[in-house]
Amino acid sequence: MSYRCIRMRFVYKILCVLAVMAMAVPFITLLLHESLSTSLFRKAIIEMPEFAIVVCRDKNNSQRSARNFQRQLRQISVLLKSAASLTSETLIFNIVADSYATYETVTNLTASWPAAYRQRVVFDEFKKVFFPPGTKKMKNLFRPCAIGKLFLAQTFEDKDAVVFLDTDTLFLMPPEDLWRKVYEFNPHQVIGIAPCLYMYGPGFKKFPTYGSSGLNTGVLVMNLTRVRAFEGGWTENIIPIMEEYKTKLSLADQDILNILFSNETTAKHLYELGCEWNYREKLCSMGSSKCKSAQQLGVGLLHGAALTFVNGVEKKFRAVFEAWERHQLGESEEAFLARLRATLRSQKRSWGCSRLPFIDKMLLQGLERERGQKE
Ligand SMILES: *[C@@H]1O[C@H](CO)[C@@H](O)[C@H](O)[C@H]1NC(C)=O
Ligand SMILES: *[C@@H]1O[C@H](CO)[C@@H](O)[C@H](O)[C@H]1NC(C)=O
Ligand SMILES: *[C@@H]1O[C@H](CO)[C@@H](O)[C@H](O)[C@H]1NC(C)=O
Ligand SMILES: *[C@@H]1O[C@H](CO)[C@@H](O)[C@H](O)[C@H]1NC(C)=O
Repeated sequence: MSYRCIRMRFVYKILCVLAVMAMAVPFITLLLHESLSTSLFRKAIIEMPEFAIVVCRDKNNSQRSARNFQRQLRQISVLLKSAASLTSETLIFNIVADSYATYETVTNLTASWPAAYRQRVVFDEFKKVFFPPGTKKMKNLFRPCAIGKLFLAQTFEDKDAVVFLDTDTLFLMPPEDLWRKVYEFNPHQVIGIAPCLYMYGPGFKKFPTYGSSGLNTGVLVMNLTRVRAFEGGWTENIIPIMEEYKTKLSLADQDILNILFSNETTAKHLYELGCEWNYREKLCSMGSSKCKSAQQLGVGLLHGAALTFVNGVEKKFRAVFEAWERHQLGESEEAFLARLRATLRSQKRSWGCSRLPFIDKMLLQGLERERGQKE
């Protein structure tokens, strides 16, 4: 048709071209609309923040292991509550468990929440914790199925990204802020982990570790697509480490990832997550502040490693955990914050983390900011 226009007389030519353009408008709009809506749709799917926890019951039927499981459930309940309370989005939680019964027990923790909060945490379907052939004998190293977190890329064959969380963690800032770190990766980075900042210092000789202070693997921001495409194979890199350092791995997954990323070739695949997203008692217990970013930005995620949420050694940590545990979703968040602030203030500055003059501010900063924004 446009070819015919060329052969017409000038005035007709113009009219003809205009007619062709007019006819094309609906097609162009349709095309634009199509690509716009699919990209919005895709964005919505990709941007749904996704988290994963791994939970296993100790097969050992002792009182002690039953108590351990109850403690884990208390901690998961607080983790979910803090996430639902601080998010302004819908979060997907993946519960990777040893059995469907464990999955049901965990997903039922939100059953009694008000609907408005329950809708903010969507549980994806049950996935059984997965161990590739050749790793099963290590599966209960350190804690039941502790190394399960290493194989999430195989557990979720069709997921692109997920943030793994230890069950003894809780949010003090919106979970989506942590999730978005995966978009900050450069094209080489595969996994985001925060530095350990103690233990694996220069004096540590048992095995090689990442950087100057090693890594703490309580929080893993993972691009699973890239883990699956890891240079030389992910599992193929892990198994030789397990074989070689078998007797020296006291902290299982954490030691393994430290060894893996100690290699110059592999270290470039690591994104260093800020320590404010994995704040542990060891970052303050000596009375000095080892995590400068938490000092500036506040703590985003608190990690009660080594039972700090329940054993009372670090009173500040326990106070935060217990305040969340007592908080009933739907009740005044103002009252929750006021209670927590008062408890923290009443604790003496005598020992461990409480010696940091700004510890309360660090713990409250994110919550106060959220409150301020909601008002
Ligand atoms: C069960 O756990 C207890 C305490 O951790 C331990 O002493 C005992 O050997 C375990 N039993 C089995 C059968 O694993
Ligand atoms: C699920 O939770 C509800 C409310 O907390 C409780 O009453 C019920 O017994 C639980 N069910 C299971 C199967 O755990
Ligand atoms: C993960 O990596 C893949 C492959 O490089 C990329 O296509 C994808 O967008 C990444 N996912 C996220 C959430 O950044
Ligand atoms: C580092 O990793 C690369 C690739 O996996 C491997 O070829 C090399 O031998 C490793 N180097 C050391 C010192 O382990």
